[in-house]
Amino acid sequence: MQFKTIFEPFRIKMVEPLSVTTEAQRKDFLKQAHYNPFLLKSDQVLIDFLTDSGTSAMSQNQWAGMMAGDESYAGARSWTKFEKVVHELTGMPYILPTHQGRAAERILYSHLGGEGKYFISNTHFDTTRANIEFSGALAYDIPILEAKDFSAHHPFKGNMDVIKLKGLIHELGAANISGVILTVTNNSGGGQPVSMQNAREVSKVCHENKILFILDMCRIAENAYFIHDREKGFEGKTYKEIAQEMCSFADAAIMSAKKDGLVNMGGFLSLRNKELSDACTQLLIITEGYSTYGGLSGRDMEAIAIGLEEVFDPAYLQYRIRSTTYLGEALYKKGVPLIYPIGGHAVYIDAKGFYPNIPVDHYPGQALVCELYTTGGIRCVEVGSVMFGKYDEHGKLIPAPMELVRLAIPRRVYTQSHIDFVIEVFDEVIKAKTSARGLRITHEPHFLRHFTAQFELI
Ligand code: F0G
Repeated sequence: MQFKTIFEPFRIKMVEPLSVTTEAQRKDFLKQAHYNPFLLKSDQVLIDFLTDSGTSAMSQNQWAGMMAGDESYAGARSWTKFEKVVHELTGMPYILPTHQGRAAERILYSHLGGEGKYFISNTHFDTTRANIEFSGALAYDIPILEAKDFSAHHPFKGNMDVIKLKGLIHELGAANISGVILTVTNNSGGGQPVSMQNAREVSKVCHENKILFILDMCRIAENAYFIHDREKGFEGKTYKEIAQEMCSFADAAIMSAKKDGLVNMGGFLSLRNKELSDACTQLLIITEGYSTYGGLSGRDMEAIAIGLEEVFDPAYLQYRIRSTTYLGEALYKKGVPLIYPIGGHAVYIDAKGFYPNIPVDHYPGQALVCELYTTGGIRCVEVGSVMFGKYDEHGKLIPAPMELVRLAIPRRVYTQSHIDFVIEVFDEVIKAKTSARGLRITHEPHFLRHFTAQFELI
């Protein structure tokens, strides 16, 4: 029997107070932050949906593990524990600890990349693309066609287009392709899952062409939930077995443990090939730290080792995915246009559809982000032309292909009543739809402008 109420499979024994503010105060805070929520102070925020990364609440076992952290420079007990858990999950012999996902990306992609090289992915996450392009290589995204249609019903909208993959290999030459990266779940594509069949097929194509197959596994437990739920033949497997099977197809795996590792900091690179591991270990030692701690303290490795076990608990995963779905479905029923079906870690709203009256060069996504903050103290992020827009030679905006707003849900942090509150805030934002105003950029840096850009209301 599945009850309607989603209860959190934990109880609370330490609380972090939230600052409750008034709408008038929030209007003032937002103005001072130049209408960019990245410039708000966290004390000015009630519900923080900026990211699900590094924002998890740790369990009592993780906190207890931190106290037992072994801070020896080399061969620490905590490293042995960490290595064992990661090795068991990925099945790969070489494990390199890093301080977060992008550090692992920098090591692997700076070694494999360079001018004239290519990488192919279902969708490169921004730090993945940035590390690849920084090396001089080029990055191609080939999600399946359904991924571009917000409302297309496909159980695995995060899949890679295997036909296109074969075409690109033919066009670019297998020898020039340094790696094929499957990101599970596909964050930039709406947090949509990837099927086991897709991973198997991509792996087969890569291996037939002697191309390295890399898994970006930062949300692999959430992905495993969807496979268990939607893909034939996996009903009887545990979530961990599903994740292990997916890793078994890959030659390398990168993980930002700040997501499904249920910790605030950490990551790793996992490899099958000794030569590649030797080369990456050199870079690890030069830039992160010695090979048995990388960029991590012993206590961080303890917390990750425990988090990577806890994340596969069926009660946790059910609560996790059901609560994201609960928020998404409630907004969908209210007619809020969004990426459907709902993904694992976030709800992605189509701001262009929500505010058809606001032109793209007045940034409808940023307008929605501002409305959600002033109305309910909810902080989230625009994933549209503020983040990805460029200018042509006349200084005219070349908009991003989509104007999205991401509500990313931290793990084990908010309760169902928090989510119900967010849904209620949307009622107000919907009522005020026609009076919402677009924004104009008054100041912007050259790179990654969404972090520090300043705006004014139009
Ligand atoms: N890969 C994916 C798919 C990610 O979502 C992220 C981070 C990274 C790699 C990089 O990991 O932050 O530990 O260096 N995503 C965060 C987000 C920042 O908000 O989606 P990191």
